[in-house]
Order: sequence, then C-alpha cells, then structure tokens
Amino acid sequence: MAGPFAKKLAEKFDEEIRFFKGWIDGPKAVGAILPTSSVTARRMASVVNPHSGLPVLELGPGTGVITRAILQRGVKPESLYCVEYSEDFARRLCADLPDINIIQGDAFDLDSTLGNHRDVVFDSVICAVPLLNFPLEKRLALLEDLLRRIPEGRPVMQITYSPLPAIPAGRGKYVVEPYDFVIRNVPPARLWVYKRGHS
Ligand SMILES: C[S@@+](CC[C@H](N)C(=O)[O-])C[C@H]1O[C@@H](n2cnc3c(N)ncnc32)[C@H](O)[C@@H]1O
Repeated sequence: MAGPFAKKLAEKFDEEIRFFKGWIDGPKAVGAILPTSSVTARRMASVVNPHSGLPVLELGPGTGVITRAILQRGVKPESLYCVEYSEDFARRLCADLPDINIIQGDAFDLDSTLGNHRDVVFDSVICAVPLLNFPLEKRLALLEDLLRRIPEGRPVMQITYSPLPAIPAGRGKYVVEPYDFVIRNVPPARLWVYKRGHS
C-alpha cells in the first residue's frame, strides 16, 4: 500500500503532468513547462497583507501553487479572487479549492471578467500571467488597470524568467523594483514589485 510520501509524490507528478499538458495545448498562454516552485510561490505571497481586511487578486493561478501559498499566508479562501484564462485549469482549481473565488476569463479585460466584483478594492495583486508573450501596450494597460484596483503603496507582484522586468520603468505613473531572484525554480525566476509612483 502506498505511504503518505508516495501519495504526495504521486500528487506532485500529477500536478506537473497537468501543467505540462496545459503548456502543450497553449504554450504562449501558459508560458512555462513546470509550475512555479513552492519556494517562489511563498516569496510571491509574502507581499500579501492578510490583515488589511481587503481581498487579494491572483492572475493566472494555473494548478494553484501560488494560490495555496497565498492561503497559507492567512488569507481567507473567500477573500481570494483568482482569474484564470484556461477552462481546464479553472475547472480543476474549482474542484481542488472550492472555497476560493475562481473566475474563468481574461486578465486583460478585468472589468468584464470580474463582473459584479469589478469595483472591489484589493489588498494586492499576485500575477503569474506570462506577460512577455503579450504586446507591451497590453502589458502597460494591464498594469495601470491593476494599480487602480489596489490602495496607493500596495504591490503588484509579477514573476518573469527574464533579467529585465516585463513592464519597463519610465512608461507611466508606476515604479518597479526587483524583489527577489529565486534560483530554486525551473527556470530560475525573477520577482518584480510594481507600485503607483513616478519613475
Ligand atoms: C506560467 S503559468 C503560471 C501558473 C501558476 N500560477 C504557477 O505559477 O505555476 C501562467 C498562467 O497564466 C494563465 N493565463 C495566461 N493568459 C492569461 C490571461 N489573459 N488571463 C488569465 N490567465 C492567463 C495561464 O493559463 C496559466 O495558468
């Protein structure tokens, strides 16, 4: 009979296979062949303030590794809103984490995707959408939209695999700072924090 370690290992492989299948179906939208590591996920979630009284917005949750890290940070499931484009990922996440708010739709069109929740103010945004696969104009419009949805001074956390931020400084009323470089990720990941301000 399989012990707890074997069960955990099997679950992990199952997640990685599901993710890889997602990449085969839509390489540009998924943007990575493996899920983010739990170390990176925890670093990304570390900017969330679970005591702000505001919900958290996650974009591109995929199989949910960052989602789980946000919950482990102390955010209540009903205070977490996740926007996922892939119907497959969204369906599976609903089954795995039924108490969070999973909205299947496009992060680049949040007013319609969020529907009744379009006017919600969020504490912060954690984004794993592979921005570099989208035109710069779209990336800029997304960032401006996200910064409008959180209080001044609160972060939009973005992961990339490139040495430069996906949305460069000097293009609008925001500042960008490197947050971390995580070697324990495949490929190694850079984390960037965007806030409202002047660069
Ligand atoms: C690099 S994967 C990250 C998945 C997961 N968060 C992780 O870190 O392992 C990118 C995710 O963004 C989703 N995605 C891509 N374009 C999107 C869009 N326009 N709106 C919402 N989600 C999107 C993909 O379906 C995929 O789940």
